Amino acid sequence: MKTYTNVKDLGNLQEAVKEAIEIKKNRFGYKHIGENKTLLMVFFNSSLRTRLSTQKAGMNLGMNTMVLDINSGAWKLETERGVIMDGDKPEHILEAIPVMASYCDIIGVRAFANLEDKSFDYQETIINQFIKHSGKPVFSMEAATGHPLQAFADLITIEEYKKTARPKVVLTWAPHPKALPQAVPNSFADFMNEADVDFVITHPKGYELAEEFVRGAHVEYDQMKAFESADFIYAKNWSAYQDPNYGKILSTDRSWTVSERQMAVTNNAHFMHCLPVRRNMIVTDEVIESPQSIVIPEAANREISAQVVIKRMLETISPTISNGEGE
Ligand code: CP
Repeated sequence: MKTYTNVKDLGNLQEAVKEAIEIKKNRFGYKHIGENKTLLMVFFNSSLRTRLSTQKAGMNLGMNTMVLDINSGAWKLETERGVIMDGDKPEHILEAIPVMASYCDIIGVRAFANLEDKSFDYQETIINQFIKHSGKPVFSMEAATGHPLQAFADLITIEEYKKTARPKVVLTWAPHPKALPQAVPNSFADFMNEADVDFVITHPKGYELAEEFVRGAHVEYDQMKAFESADFIYAKNWSAYQDPNYGKILSTDRSWTVSERQMAVTNNAHFMHCLPVRRNMIVTDEVIESPQSIVIPEAANREISAQVVIKRMLETISPTISNGEGE
């Protein structure tokens, strides 16, 4: 695997989930394959889970790991060509990328949408420059339009907790005080559309996601109706995608906050969220603390999804390394 930015990069999804479940049983069994290899994690934005779980995944595979916070201690980077660099950004990303790449074997990048320029965001301008100019395998640690490590962990979690062969999975918008990117719901939809689930998206009118991710999935504007008989509720806020409101907050309606009222019509559904979550905006204390909440095992599976991706990249770099039990 040379890049990981969306579900298609995993190939056969069932096999990827099977590999994840095998790795989870024996996460140190591949410690030899990353020996003398270096993982660089580049963050343009904050992180708790991605930073720790991805670093842990690299260490499980025997790698050296380095973390660079671009906006804290590194030079500010100009990301667009043609700009006269007379402002506050002393380095251009076109020099910074090959320099960073010269110190490592695999690069993870976190670069959120700016929510100002839809075309800049949806062309994935920053991570695509890493893919183009680094010469190294590059994976997304949440880019402008997707968070595929999160969605892969979400799918692994659904596989672990499902009680029926084809569960009903509902992605619900919920209110939030700040404008957030569409990356998490985009990737969740991307994965659920490929998985063997009955997938429904619910949100207020105006919050329609990009069709390249929704891909004809059932959109139900009545949240209570969407929740009926659901096996999994996946809550997330996102800002508007559609023009002319790209990046805007259109609603803060707290009747969409996931509470016991909505959960009562589900099939005793599990509650999921990628975290961090704003309690009593996205979800009530009662629901997130209930036995049906699986947000902690979901976050723990981030280590496993990252380990599958990094392992596959290491196997691409050194195709002769043996799989299976470690030395
Ligand atoms: N879910 C997630 O990516 O968490 P962080 O932003 O803390 O990495």
